[in-house]
Formats: sequence, structure tokens, C-alpha cells
Amino acid sequence: MKKVLVINSNPKPTEMSFSLRLGEHYLTALQADADVQIERVNLYEENIPLIDGTVLDAWGKAAAGEALSAEQTSTLGRMNEILEQFIAADVVVFITPMWNLSFPTLLKAYIDNVVIAGRTFKYTAEGPKGLLGGKKVVHIEARGGVYSEGPTTGLRFTDSYLQTIMGFIGITDYENVVVEGMAATPDRAEEILASAKQRAEQSAKNLLAAVK
Ligand SMILES: Cc1cc2nc3c(=O)[nH]c(=O)nc-3n(C[C@H](O)[C@H](O)[C@H](O)COP(=O)(O)O)c2cc1C
Repeated sequence: MKKVLVINSNPKPTEMSFSLRLGEHYLTALQADADVQIERVNLYEENIPLIDGTVLDAWGKAAAGEALSAEQTSTLGRMNEILEQFIAADVVVFITPMWNLSFPTLLKAYIDNVVIAGRTFKYTAEGPKGLLGGKKVVHIEARGGVYSEGPTTGLRFTDSYLQTIMGFIGITDYENVVVEGMAATPDRAEEILASAKQRAEQSAKNLLAAVK
């Protein structure tokens, strides 16, 4: 049984969203294998704690063995729940729209819940070391413009950051399945999506073959 955790960071209904439509296509292809178990998290429907003053104070107190407030206990409990769910997954699928050359804020908040010293990476004399080797990340992304080629390639902060931070916690098997350019050429949008769906399907087949 392979556990696939799907992190949806798009508040739109699926039919209005290229990333979600592509994501559903990918997941349908994965579900061809009965051994795949899919768990979904919608960041816009769940409580994703932010690292704020209360959390930083709670971490300081916990490290010093001091008592936490009821609010701090509850918040750290929720953060740990998010972390355990992430650690339990074999494959994590992030579905994101590109917003302002980045991804939605809630995804950064989510990442802040799973990049935790001592749990997903540790400091060593040789520098930080990721602890989550053996997992795979698939990033399904929709971008209005084209960033995979031409003068805008240097503006791909989204998958560059996601790939780097996942590598930081040890997940170096990273794949970006992109649908892009629909805003640049709206008359070709459905054609662009159809071609991205083929790539997503192939990517799902490759994953299934690799985990057999
Ligand atoms: C708030 C917002 C910011 C956006 N910023 C960018 C951007 O920086 N670059 C870009 O190419 N497209 C940008 N777009 C267009 C989206 O990337 C495009 O509509 C994409 O299809 C969104 O994914 P979705 O269809 O899954 O919602 C933006 C759209 C919104 C709503």
C-alpha cells in the first residue's frame, strides 16, 4: 500500500482551475492501482497554524521544559498532527496555482509545519541533513504565463523553492508537472491542458511502475 498525500493549495472549484483539473487527471491515473491510498488536504478548509509569536514562544518554552498555555498546547498539537501526516506519506502531491510569481501563502504556512528540526531535518557538524529520504514529491502547477522557456525561466521561484525546501528535508525525488501559458494564449488553453494531461498520465504510470 502506497500512501499518497495530496496538498491542494487552490481555493477554486475544480472545474474553474487548470491545476485542479490537471491534478484530478493525475490522481485518477494513480487510482488505476488499487494499492494506492489517497489522502487529501485542502489548505483552505483546514486549520494550518502560522509560525507567530505564540508558536515561537511555545517552542522556546518547550525547549526549556517550561509549561505551555492551553492555546500553545493546542496549536503545537495541531502542528504535530500535520507533521505526522506528512511523514506517514510515501508520495506527496502539491497542487498549486502560480500567484504573483509564487504559490498561495497557505502553502508556505503548510511548509512551515513540516520543516521541523529534529523531525524532518537535523543539524550536523557537516551542515543540515534531511531525514525524509525515500519519499517522492510531485508538484502539479498552473501558470498563466510561460516560464519553462524563454526570458522568464529565471522567474520560476515556485518550483525552484519547493524543490529546494523538499530537498532540504531529504526528499530529492521531485517532479514538476506544469500546465502553463493559458493566460498568454487563452484560445489555446484547453489544448495546452490536454497536452499537460498526457504528461501527467505518463508521470502517474512511471510512479506506479517505480513503486511496484
Ligand atoms: C492572484 C493571482 C496572481 C497571479 N499571478 C500570476 C503570475 O505571477 N504569473 C503568471 O504567469 N500567472 C499569474 N496568475 C495567473 C494564474 O497563474 C493562472 O490563472 C493559473 O491558471 C492559475 O491556476 P488555476 O487555473 O489552477 O487557478 C495569477 C492569478 C491570480 C488569481
